Amino acid sequence: MPQRIDDAALDTLFRDARTYATWQPTPVTDQTLRDLYELLKWAPTSANAAPARFAFLRSKEAKERLRPALAPLNVEKTMTAPVTVIVGYDMKFYEQLPKLFPHGPGMRQMFESNPEMAAATAKRNSSLQGAYLIMAARALGLDCGPMSGFDQAKVDEEFFAAGKPCFGCDQEFFPEGHVKSNFLCNLGYGDPATLHARLPRLPFNEACSLL
Ligand SMILES: Cc1cc2nc3c(=O)[nH]c(=O)nc-3n(C[C@H](O)[C@H](O)[C@H](O)COP(=O)(O)O)c2cc1C
Repeated sequence: MPQRIDDAALDTLFRDARTYATWQPTPVTDQTLRDLYELLKWAPTSANAAPARFAFLRSKEAKERLRPALAPLNVEKTMTAPVTVIVGYDMKFYEQLPKLFPHGPGMRQMFESNPEMAAATAKRNSSLQGAYLIMAARALGLDCGPMSGFDQAKVDEEFFAAGKPCFGCDQEFFPEGHVKSNFLCNLGYGDPATLHARLPRLPFNEACSLL
């Protein structure tokens, strides 16, 4: 029987967690990024398809490749963040279904023959997995700064070889441009000094209905 987590954990995940734009000079280790994936991978996706792909940009060189795609207001916060993750999705995620959903042998063909459904599934579930990444990061003591202010076509071309085979590219993990970017998320240990007052949220009766 699952246990309710305590109030301190709920504060860490939700009530005290903020979106950060400035960062302490504490690095994020590769092991922490591996721990992050090892947590988020367990959260649910349609048909267990797990279409999200994550490119963790840690080096100055990788950040410079991203710079031209960033909206002006997102440049400084991204270039100074210890890590920026591109949350993407694999349009051919269904090729993994024989491994990830072996008891449904028709699923691969169902998605392959219906590109519209495949695209909607990839976007919906990679967005979910990006949200799982944010929550897993918070659970590991990291802070996040998610961003949609960037040029998706530029990111796809630079990092995911959009429209061309990925010969000699260092992202051979994502061959032939069938991975697309969804959103970016800076990761690190946030500097609270620059936080503004927290914005309001809709109350229950404006956002929810009980039917
Ligand atoms: C998908 C997504 C895209 C966002 N895009 C941007 C962005 O491009 N630039 C930016 O400064 N903030 C961006 N934000 C940050 C939001 O404005 C911020 O998370 C929200 O106001 C809540 O702030 P809080 O977590 O401090 O309460 C984005 C957040 C999300 C989840």
